[in-house]
Amino acid sequence: MKILIVGSGGREHALTWTLSKDRNVNEIYAAPGNPGIAEIATCVPINSTNIDELASFATKHAIELTVVGPEAPLGAGIVDTFRKKKLPIFGPDKLAARIETSKSFAKDLCTRYALPTPHWETFIDKNKANRALDDLGPPWVIKADGLAAGKGTTVTRDRREAEAAIQRELVREPKRIVMEEFIDGWEASFTATVSADRVQWLAPVFQDYKPAFDGDSGPNTGGMGVYAPVPSVTQSIVERVRKKILDPAVAALAKEGAPFQGVLYLNVIVKHGTEDPYVLEFNARFGDPETQGIIPLVKDGLSAHLSAVAANSDRPPLPESSKSASVVVVLASKGYPENPSTGELIALRPLANSNIVVFHAGTARNPNGQLVTAGGRVLNVTTTGPSVESARKDAYSVIGKSVYFPGMHYRTDIGSSQMRRRQLEPIKT
Ligand code: GLY
Repeated sequence: MKILIVGSGGREHALTWTLSKDRNVNEIYAAPGNPGIAEIATCVPINSTNIDELASFATKHAIELTVVGPEAPLGAGIVDTFRKKKLPIFGPDKLAARIETSKSFAKDLCTRYALPTPHWETFIDKNKANRALDDLGPPWVIKADGLAAGKGTTVTRDRREAEAAIQRELVREPKRIVMEEFIDGWEASFTATVSADRVQWLAPVFQDYKPAFDGDSGPNTGGMGVYAPVPSVTQSIVERVRKKILDPAVAALAKEGAPFQGVLYLNVIVKHGTEDPYVLEFNARFGDPETQGIIPLVKDGLSAHLSAVAANSDRPPLPESSKSASVVVVLASKGYPENPSTGELIALRPLANSNIVVFHAGTARNPNGQLVTAGGRVLNVTTTGPSVESARKDAYSVIGKSVYFPGMHYRTDIGSSQMRRRQLEPIKT
């Protein structure tokens, strides 16, 4: 099978890495890819939102499956264009992708179909939103309605910070915000594929670390690391997420005339002291860095599964997976997330252990061919092992020794806590 991967991050490197070892796959292209992907596939310099050029490339090279990583091309209608041209593609169309690209659409769907989600309200007017802060009381949760590259959510008790978030997010398209009830609990990432209006494959449940620094302090990021299994995720919680959120969301989208086909990744919060899950966010694509954690657990058969989902088969063959633990530590550039530095030389020495893989995200080659930093999240150190403790020990053992760049920062507590509560920044005075 000939495959085209759309995207250039750690998630796309992980997908390429496993597909390059898949027995059904003989050629992989990535657009635009990154230097890590370039070691195992052919990178083509087409931006991930340049849909017409991607479709021409897929036609010319007789691509048998295109796998879309990021949300922006889904929101821009890549799947609609490819399907019109009869090009097989894994992902939802533009209408179904609204479950991620429009928070108000997702929230409205939850309300109309009784899916558990925190109470919410939308605002387009700054003064009305500021007045609502009084009615709601702290802590406040303020979200951009549209795509914000993982940076559109503010959770705070600080009135000035809440007002600044309202002002900032109302400037972003579509100039609308969602304010949400704060739920005290712990979060987890659920990933499932959907084909023929049915939930098919539930990948292991991960916990993502969004804040930049240890102890859940600092600004929100795209994700600084993940681990699985999460001890607090019981079988009963998984079943509740499936019965109360996943299955009804998929049915609701079909009923609304926007059937979902692809991967749904849910950000769920479980109220502290209960087993009650509430959906905080739907994502119409694989998580990043969750995928870097999921992929090393997939032994074989991902191409057959993705291909069958792309064909809307009612029983896609499930990929074979291992039950090992998995840990991903993100190495970020100095200044990330506000102002990441770029162009720093990266030292990446060969790793002795086969249970450790380093996936590239924000990397590039400079004019001398040297590997340099080129974004906020630079590398993902991914390890597997018999337990989270052993996997995290292996991950941290190579950081700074085999993998290093000036200004590199990372969290030292990925996978270290048993149950993480949603934390709030102390009030700034
Ligand atoms: N893990 C965060 C995201 O993929 O949006």
